[in-house]
Order: sequence, then C-alpha cells, then structure tokens
Amino acid sequence: MIIEDQMILDSLDDCIFEELTTENFESLIFDYCNLDFFANNFATGASKGVLFLKDDDSKVVKIPLSHYESEVWNDEGEGNWEYKVIPFHGASCSNGNSWDYCRLECDIYEKAKEAGLEKYFLKTQCIGSVNSHPIYTQEKADNTLFEVKNYAYDGDFGLPELKKKHEGIDIYMIDPQWVYDFISFYGIDELVKLQDFLRENKLDRDLHSENIGYRDGKPILIDYSDYHN
Ligand SMILES: Nc1ncnc2c1ncn2[C@@H]1O[C@H](COP(=O)(O)OP(=O)(O)O)[C@@H](O)[C@H]1O
Ligand SMILES: [Mg+2]
Repeated sequence: MIIEDQMILDSLDDCIFEELTTENFESLIFDYCNLDFFANNFATGASKGVLFLKDDDSKVVKIPLSHYESEVWNDEGEGNWEYKVIPFHGASCSNGNSWDYCRLECDIYEKAKEAGLEKYFLKTQCIGSVNSHPIYTQEKADNTLFEVKNYAYDGDFGLPELKKKHEGIDIYMIDPQWVYDFISFYGIDELVKLQDFLRENKLDRDLHSENIGYRDGKPILIDYSDYHN
C-alpha cells in the first residue's frame, strides 16, 4: 500500500514541533502521530527523527530536529553544569536555513545528481510542512550496516587488505564490509568517484554503520547530511 504525502502530513497534525530534540521526539511526535498509518516504532539520531510507515516499505518519514540538549557551564554564583536546549545552527542549507539537516540532505542529493552519483544515496524529498515545520520522506533502507554487520569477516576484509588490493582507496571512515559490497556491485572506479565526492563535500566524517546500509541488497548511504551542531 502506498501512503500518500497528504495522508502523512494529516497524520502528524496533533504533534508538537517546538524545540524538538532527540530526547523529546517520542513524547512530542511519536505519542501523537496517528498509528493508523505509522508503524509502532521510530528511530532518532542526533539531528533527525524517523517514523516508519505501516504497510508501506517504500519510504520513511524524516523530521528534522530543531534543537539539541547539551550540558553547559553556568557561571552564576559558584557555578554549576546545566542542561540547556540549544538550536542547531551548523546545517548550511541552500535556502539559508542553518538547522534543518533533512533539507541539507535534499541539497546534497541534488549535488550527487549533478555528479551522476545519486543512485548511491537514498532520495530525500520535502513533502510539505505541519505547523510550519518541514516534513520529509526518504526512500527506505532494508537495513543499516549496523543491523547486518558480520564481525567474522573483519580479519579478512579489513582496511589494510582493502588498501593492498585497491590503490585508490581512502575511505577510512566507512566500514570495509560495506566498501567490499560496494565494489562488488559497482566496481572500484565508482567507489573512487563516490569517495572523492564525499571528501569534496566534507561528508566523509559521519558515515558510521547506522548511517549506511542496503536497499534491494545493494549498498546505499542513508544519512548523508554530516553533523556540526
Ligand atoms: N531511509 C531510511 N531507511 C531506514 N532506516 C532509516 C532511514 N533513515 C534513517 N533511518 C534510521 O534512523 C536513524 C536516524 O536517522 P539519521 O538519518 O541517521 O538521522 P541523524 O542525522 O539524526 O543521525 C538511522 O541511523 C537509521 O537507523
Ligand atoms: Mg545518523
């Protein structure tokens, strides 16, 4: 079943979008979203919340978090550490926005298209907004590398072996298991192109095993917005 964009937006109508953080995503969004359409689970990273759809495995709903919690030193009196809710400001989006890491993914997807590399990125699209908060969908990954990581391979499929085999490789932040899979599907030349694109766009620092994965059995990038607070 395909769940239409408008149905998704309507299902989020009762959610609260003010000062949205990783910590309050469950109580402000998940507890109020309409479970006729949404599956009974969600995920969060540092800068986005993710809702999974019921009976629709084609996409997920991604909601950019506007704030993050941080412990900061309060100078008053004897001083003490305090939790503060701070707006994100490190996402330099093409529309001037500096907090929306989903929007940044849309921008990067467009750049990847210009470079002919978009098939390695799950497509992210803005579908509208609810109470002025932008809402996005992204093609769904079948799984993250974290979920399917096979540690038994690490001895034979480590980074030193990879570098010995392929001179051009410099993807030190991406797990070799995913890199081997990428090369077996697309070849080393494509990997080098992707690697150069990631480095030029400063996207190579946050591609840990929960940000990369597989769709239709092939390696893809899930979270390619990097992260700078
Ligand atoms: N398109 C997707 N398909 C499946 N799972 C996803 C998808 N996007 C995100 N997730 C899950 O949600 C988590 C958080 O999303 P992510 O884009 O990494 O946000 P953040 O920028 O906050 O780290 C991911 O680590 C992954 O487990
Ligand atoms: Mg992430």
